[in-house]
Amino acid sequence: MASVIELAPSILSANFAQLGVEAKAALEGGGTVLHLDVMDGHFVPNITIGPPVVASLRKTLPNATFDCHLMIENPDDYIPAFAEAGANWISVHQEACVHLDRTLHLIASHNCKPAVVINPATPVHMLDNVLDLVHHVLIMSVNPGFGAQHFITNSLNKVRDLGRLREARGLDFRIEIDGGVALDTVADIVRAGAEILVAGNAIFSHGDIRENARTLLSAARAAASSGPAPRLRRAAAAARPSKEGQRRQA
Ligand code: DX5
Ligand code: ZN
Repeated sequence: MASVIELAPSILSANFAQLGVEAKAALEGGGTVLHLDVMDGHFVPNITIGPPVVASLRKTLPNATFDCHLMIENPDDYIPAFAEAGANWISVHQEACVHLDRTLHLIASHNCKPAVVINPATPVHMLDNVLDLVHHVLIMSVNPGFGAQHFITNSLNKVRDLGRLREARGLDFRIEIDGGVALDTVADIVRAGAEILVAGNAIFSHGDIRENARTLLSAARAAASSGPAPRLRRAAAAARPSKEGQRRQA
């Protein structure tokens, strides 16, 4: 795997009363991109942050790359405000965009890197006609809306399909994955071809944030350099710790 594996801590699982401090810790632990989940209570059944929070974080972290994941309806109406607030990358859901080509160009026109996201039930081929426009594709490996959900293993097939498509077409977009990235899933995820790993619960929900980020990134990079993809270890996936009680099901 030639591509460098990057870790994108998702602040969704952070303590919002300590947001700047916790985000900084995650970046110091090895996060290279800060993933900011924007939810509107319509496209997804949850509400999170808007441009003012992004602008405040920008003041605290002037040099960090901000990856704004818009889980909102009518994203065109808000893209200028997120760009102004300090977003570097802006991703929009294919399912939320009637005129996806136009929306991706709008993002680029605000000097942000455009990206597209697909939900677990959306096939990769829905993106055929925009792959040449995007900086990265984000594969949702949970249904969007909440942190700490169970990883949907079919996402690995979608990552592989996307990698094959990229090679066949000679494109250079990157592949990001979001949801259920943790120590017990990350090796399969990286071996399938994901390069930017979003992780919330695994970094912010327990213990030391810096150490969690460091450990997860090391495990990911070790898996990436350990050779060809083995078959998905179903037994290991089935034996995952039973945190079901605390996981929200979407
Ligand atoms: C979910 C969000 C994710 C979320 C991932 O809709 O898009 O970014 O924070 O959370 P974990 O890593 O806890 O599954
Ligand atoms: Zn996200």
